[in-house]
Amino acid sequence: MSPVPTVRLRIYPDDCDAYGHVNQAAFLRMFERARWEAIALGPGTDVFTRAAAWPAIRRASVEYYEPAFPGELLRFDLVLTHLGRTSFSMHQTVRREAGGAIIAAGQFVGVCIDHHGRPTPIPEAMTQFLGVRPSTPGGEVRHFVVRGAATAVDVEGDGQAVLFVHGFPFDRTMWRAQLTNLGGFSRIAPDLRGFGLTDPPPERWTLADYADDLVWILDQVGVERTVVCGLSMGGYIAFELWRRHRKRICGLILASTRPEPDTAEGKKRRDEMIELVRRSGPGAVVDAMLPKLLAPATLDGQPQIAAHVRTMIADSSASGMMSAIVAMRERSDSTPLLSSIDVPTLVVAGAADALIPADAQRALAHAITNAQFESVPDAGHLAPLEQPDRFNRTVAAFLNSMR
Ligand code: MLT
Repeated sequence: MSPVPTVRLRIYPDDCDAYGHVNQAAFLRMFERARWEAIALGPGTDVFTRAAAWPAIRRASVEYYEPAFPGELLRFDLVLTHLGRTSFSMHQTVRREAGGAIIAAGQFVGVCIDHHGRPTPIPEAMTQFLGVRPSTPGGEVRHFVVRGAATAVDVEGDGQAVLFVHGFPFDRTMWRAQLTNLGGFSRIAPDLRGFGLTDPPPERWTLADYADDLVWILDQVGVERTVVCGLSMGGYIAFELWRRHRKRICGLILASTRPEPDTAEGKKRRDEMIELVRRSGPGAVVDAMLPKLLAPATLDGQPQIAAHVRTMIADSSASGMMSAIVAMRERSDSTPLLSSIDVPTLVVAGAADALIPADAQRALAHAITNAQFESVPDAGHLAPLEQPDRFNRTVAAFLNSMR
């Protein structure tokens, strides 16, 4: 979620054209007004004058989805998508306050300039206010409107596409080491609905819905066939993609996942977690989950990984988390699917996974024709974060073997 406050602006007749709806050019003015309103609520509109550094927009592009009419209240949200020393990019969405439908979305690229018009560092107070979320270092988060939801996606590199699907309750930044270091492939890592910077889903959301969103994203980035790398819940979604859209898949990497549905006991635990999140919010599950997610070696020796996992969990939206828990509780049995998998497949487990034991994942690999199994030492449930070099070497070797 963006730390930048949401701003509400009302439409007046002078924003509208002869058809009576908001004129496209008026949206540029409204986006600008919304940015200043947000800054007024944060560091103050004199933040730039104080630092003798002023923002100049170099590129603006707006996509329009629905008309808006006089009297309507609109809601503006902003996220920073790239932050350099002097330059920045941001994505803004405008929604109808009543019902929340997205009306338009804009991408703005700017630079801070001094009195002489020369690029100058962005004021410190602004960078603190914008609170950039860790993403691909140097990369840029892309934003799409996917079936009515503002959706954030990291896209890096060229070559064979690999779609990285995060687990629960994480976000696309769990794949940071893969986005940064797995050169030679086109890496695509979205935030699933309700996680990271992507809008929460409607109340009833299924694994099939997450899978359909992903196909929509593939269409947006122009990828016809991809390797799907799903971790845990991301693996459940990978099975769903195979069930519904297998023509789009040319390889599978199943990390820390299982094909079986929840047991009765598992469903009961899901209900308890929903209650906890409803009562106390996403942060309440952090302490209970962390020791199960990370290997003892990670908890003892890599505090930065534990901190990253904490942040991802605590920043999830409560509604997104609850929808995901229900979707997982209701998921179908994917074991009957396994015999149909005829694309190269790698199953990769953390040797110390306390949630889905490595032996169960070895059995998963045995059930898929010619699947390869690898176990990552000193990793728990989150090998891509805990042992990124080892995980990346394993994945790169698998992807190279497909060439
Ligand atoms: C995950 O990491 O996605 C979860 O552990 C999956 C689950 O709760 O079944």
